[in-house]
Amino acid sequence: MHTPLSLTSALVAAAAAHAVSAHFILTSPPNRGFDELIESQAPCGGFNTTSATRATIGPKTNISLTIADANSSVVVNFGTGENPAAFSVPIGKGSWVARGNFSVPIDLTAANITTAIKGTIQVVLTGGDGVLYQCADVDFNPSATSGTTTGGSTGSSPSVSGTPAATGMPAKAGGSNAAVSTRTVANSALMLLPVLLPLFF
Ligand SMILES: *[C@@H]1O[C@H](CO)[C@@H](O)[C@H](O)[C@H]1NC(C)=O
Ligand SMILES: *[C@@H]1O[C@H](CO)[C@@H](O)[C@H](O)[C@H]1NC(C)=O
Ligand SMILES: *[C@@H]1O[C@H](CO)[C@@H](O)[C@H](O)[C@H]1NC(C)=O
Ligand SMILES: *[C@@H]1O[C@H](CO)[C@@H](O)[C@H](O)[C@H]1NC(C)=O
Ligand SMILES: *[C@@H]1O[C@H](CO)[C@@H](O)[C@H](O)[C@H]1NC(C)=O
Repeated sequence: MHTPLSLTSALVAAAAAHAVSAHFILTSPPNRGFDELIESQAPCGGFNTTSATRATIGPKTNISLTIADANSSVVVNFGTGENPAAFSVPIGKGSWVARGNFSVPIDLTAANITTAIKGTIQVVLTGGDGVLYQCADVDFNPSATSGTTTGGSTGSSPSVSGTPAATGMPAKAGGSNAAVSTRTVANSALMLLPVLLPLFF
């Protein structure tokens, strides 16, 4: 049903549509999949199949978001298992009144998970287009000390850091510029192609 060509077209169309429509991409850990047209489908933005590769995360790390919405709030949840249907452990949140790249600290210590397990991070964004979803499949290792270790597509650190639960956290200059925002998301969508394409072969 899906072909690389139609996926590419969808991503290009999605990127082009960002000037008028506000969406977001979970850039780190690498997301399960992004398609603007179905990003409102719970629980994972229309992607029900887990990623072939998983980033390893410890109890405390940061996730990175590119948000093309001028006014948004996110809640980050964790679900345990190979392909969880429920995401019942809240592990982070943030809100912003600017577009841009944001870092959200997540904390899994409250989940009391003592052994290495598979799980999925779910990011739920509420903004101008309603409620949108992104997921990242991970290996959780309670003894991993810091950030994500991943072979994923995102190497650079976020330009703007958000703090959890902070309201009205402004982005620095550039984040509110629609043209910059559109280009940022277009880049992100194109960057995700190598990650997404193998899923459809
Ligand atoms: C994903 O699963 C949900 C709930 O089971 C279902 O409604 C939706 O159609 C599925 N999406 C795809 C793309 O298979
Ligand atoms: C997460 O980001 C904060 C800044 O927002 C930084 O101080 C902290 O070291 C980062 N943590 C990890 C595990 O990368
Ligand atoms: C952002 O959205 C919230 C919830 O809809 C609203 O209460 C708030 O006034 C908005 N803030 C700005 C700056 O638009
Ligand atoms: C984690 O353990 C603490 C202390 O035993 C307990 O109060 C808390 O309810 C547990 N949390 C979960 C999600 O099981
Ligand atoms: C935002 O993040 C994306 C994806 O990591 C990156 O391509 C882009 O250069 C970043 N933009 C800024 C302004 O840092």
